[in-house]
Amino acid sequence: MIESPPTKALLRAIPDSYADALGQVPGAPPIDVARARAQHAAYAAALSALGLEVTVLPADEALPDCCFIEDTAVIAAGHALLTRPGAVSRRAEVDAVAAALDGAVTLQRTRVPALIDGGDVLRVAHTIYVGLSARTNGVSVGAVQEAFWPRGFIVRSVPVPFGTLHLKCHASSPVPGLVVVAEGSPLDGAFGPELRAVRVPRAEAYAANTVGVGETVLVAAGYPETAARLRAEGLEVVTLDMSELARADGSLTCLSLLY
Ligand code: GLY
Repeated sequence: MIESPPTKALLRAIPDSYADALGQVPGAPPIDVARARAQHAAYAAALSALGLEVTVLPADEALPDCCFIEDTAVIAAGHALLTRPGAVSRRAEVDAVAAALDGAVTLQRTRVPALIDGGDVLRVAHTIYVGLSARTNGVSVGAVQEAFWPRGFIVRSVPVPFGTLHLKCHASSPVPGLVVVAEGSPLDGAFGPELRAVRVPRAEAYAANTVGVGETVLVAAGYPETAARLRAEGLEVVTLDMSELARADGSLTCLSLLY
């Protein structure tokens, strides 16, 4: 399987209703939506500066979490599996994404009773890991297999620890052949010597979620050891303030679909 690197990024703007997004810690200060929008714009600008063609879909006020577009589709090898997000309030996010992807990749729908959030699906080379979480059920493993095994991928399931939202809260693969994994997480030690693994210290676990374009890796600001370890691998590191996105349990990968 020969696959070109992504050239496009699909994002979705932040609605005013983002103030009520899922995943907020009870009692935490309210989300600053204007600041979240500024952080989202900086993210879009960073992807654009790295050469991706960035499209930002309009926000939908009825969908407070719609900026977390990663959860709506799993894309690999020119094929998109449109998801059925685990949270009922998020299911309607998928249709606008399907319309935007139509024609650029082949599309397949996830069928009932499978539930999948894209944040639970981590591709590393030719293996796709599906995290079993409060959002992604066991039936989804078969759905991912049906979509991607014919395209040359092996699909494996991994439990996501209770209390964390998604598999990609624990690991990401920003650059082919490289994984960034939080120490002590379910995928820590799971990869063979054919992959370079950057281990993220426990105190910086949030920084295990990264996005890469070429040899540049986007990392959440405020995690110096992770940034240093990535630089030691010869990678460029760009840091982005994620404070208001993290308040709704959002991370860097959540904000885009790359294809
Ligand atoms: N706020 C992201 C989610 O809970 O799905």
